[in-house]
Amino acid sequence: MYVCLCHGFTDGDVRKALDGGCRSVAAVYRHLADRPQCGKCVPDVRGMVNEHRAGNAGGGVCHALPCGAAAQAETAA
Ligand code: FES
Repeated sequence: MYVCLCHGFTDGDVRKALDGGCRSVAAVYRHLADRPQCGKCVPDVRGMVNEHRAGNAGGGVCHALPCGAAAQAETAA
């Protein structure tokens, strides 16, 4: 199902980003689309991030480009 119509990414794309190590809404957008445009999808992405956090308490580092460095900075903070 499409989550973001502005950038054309799906719930599967968000899950892959989360499974790849993205740990925040900002990291998901950096990975998939740089930044939100209209922002209507942000609550859905936030919900998916929170669900992922609840089900996966372990840490992680995003190895996917281009957000890998940003995700590492988030986990180091
Ligand atoms: S629907 Fe995602 S930025 Fe507009």
